[in-house]
Amino acid sequence: MTNKPTSAFPDDFLWGAATAAYQVEGGHDADGKGPSIWDIYSHLPGTTHAGTNGDVAADHYHRFKEDVALMAEAGLTSYRFSISWPRLLPQGRGTVNQAGIQFYSDLIDELLKHNIKPMITLYHWDLPQALQDIGGWESRVTVEAFEEYAKLCYQAFGDRVELWSTFNETLIFIGMGYFTATHPPGISDPKRGLQACHHVFVAHAKAVQAFRQYQQFGTVPSNGQIGFVNVMQPHDPISDSSEDVAACNMADDLLTHWLYDPVLKGEYPTHILNLAQATWGAPVFAEEDEMLLKDNICDFIGVNYYKREWIAANPDVENTKINTTGEKGSGQEFGFKGLFKFVRNPNSTYTDWDWEIYPEGLCVGMMRLKERYGDIPFYITENGLGAKDPIIDGEIVDQPRIEYLSSHIAAAESAIKQGVDVRGYYPWSFIDLLSWLNGYQKQYGFVYVDRDNHLNRRRKKSFFWYQDVIKSNGAVR
Ligand code: BG6
Repeated sequence: MTNKPTSAFPDDFLWGAATAAYQVEGGHDADGKGPSIWDIYSHLPGTTHAGTNGDVAADHYHRFKEDVALMAEAGLTSYRFSISWPRLLPQGRGTVNQAGIQFYSDLIDELLKHNIKPMITLYHWDLPQALQDIGGWESRVTVEAFEEYAKLCYQAFGDRVELWSTFNETLIFIGMGYFTATHPPGISDPKRGLQACHHVFVAHAKAVQAFRQYQQFGTVPSNGQIGFVNVMQPHDPISDSSEDVAACNMADDLLTHWLYDPVLKGEYPTHILNLAQATWGAPVFAEEDEMLLKDNICDFIGVNYYKREWIAANPDVENTKINTTGEKGSGQEFGFKGLFKFVRNPNSTYTDWDWEIYPEGLCVGMMRLKERYGDIPFYITENGLGAKDPIIDGEIVDQPRIEYLSSHIAAAESAIKQGVDVRGYYPWSFIDLLSWLNGYQKQYGFVYVDRDNHLNRRRKKSFFWYQDVIKSNGAVR
């Protein structure tokens, strides 16, 4: 008798994969969908790599059955996807596009038919343009509209979906949308960014509150859970000088605690709130905000882990240009003058996009969060390697991706062994899709999309590897 390899992953651990609507669906104006800010922004000259956009993407909107069949073949037990708000509400609020509801309803049914548990993200950055036109996240009208949209989703899909998250990565859509001006709405103004970010937290709290009410009415499952998804980017000082350590603490406060505290503690870190309000006069609170945040802590945290950042003191650099070409070293030093900068560690390993490969960071990051926020359940809602995959004799031999994911699964297992309540793992991405600023050249998927040949799907080497990982509950990797 041979002993089967075992792992520390619990039996009900979810082995998933993730995507987001704008990056995978295409069908940008199909069947009554309204335009999102990304539909508009990506068509402006000079905004994305080589003018790429998500008009067609992987055409998942029309091919979702084929894609779900592939998920089932891979053995996924869960699938994380986002809903396109303007597909349901073309104007952001008001008239509902029934064809949009039908699409997600059919997708959910197809997943359940194959025993794949849906995990819905309500907002993965594609705000209806109509709401941007009246101020976007800077306006409280958008907060109200988000609550209505969330309720619509609970009513339409709550009978079949247990796992929900409100927002994906405030760090990126607020940071790049309002600080570095590299995502829509392309603004660089800390005061406006801090206020927009605050409204996102208030919208989140209102959606959590509505979820709990709907749980009482039975509209969403009583065992349903609602969470928030954040970038998890552990920071380490590049030296032990007091300047670098102070800069690293500042990076933690601004890029981690500012974004996790409001959803896990119901308040901002006081010293940073005081600093922000004294320096920029923002965020301004409405009367109800403090209690709303306090009363609506989420059920779980989703962490998207790709890399760690090494931090140094930064007396001089004011630059936010990143590598969007995949040519190693093409990004410049990224920093906010007077606060901190991200620096390269010459002894470490980096991807072609200059992202450090540091699997232990997945474990370290969750341990640090557990220390600050206690025993919250975790889902690893994204993790993956962006690369130009080699095609050898017609096969997509994405060996570096296998190595990347394998070492990160080991780190997740190590976190579980150290007492972190990790409940699921969703590599980014199930299928090759649009990378917001890097186009289609930066691939992440288990499934290749042949852009020269009718968007045909082909299984990569990693597809078969992940199948074995799932079959063995993470023991074979
Ligand atoms: C996360 C996002 O920031 O990282 C995804 O949630 C994104 O939407 C992923 O695609 C990878 O980033 P990039 O820039 O390499 O596509």
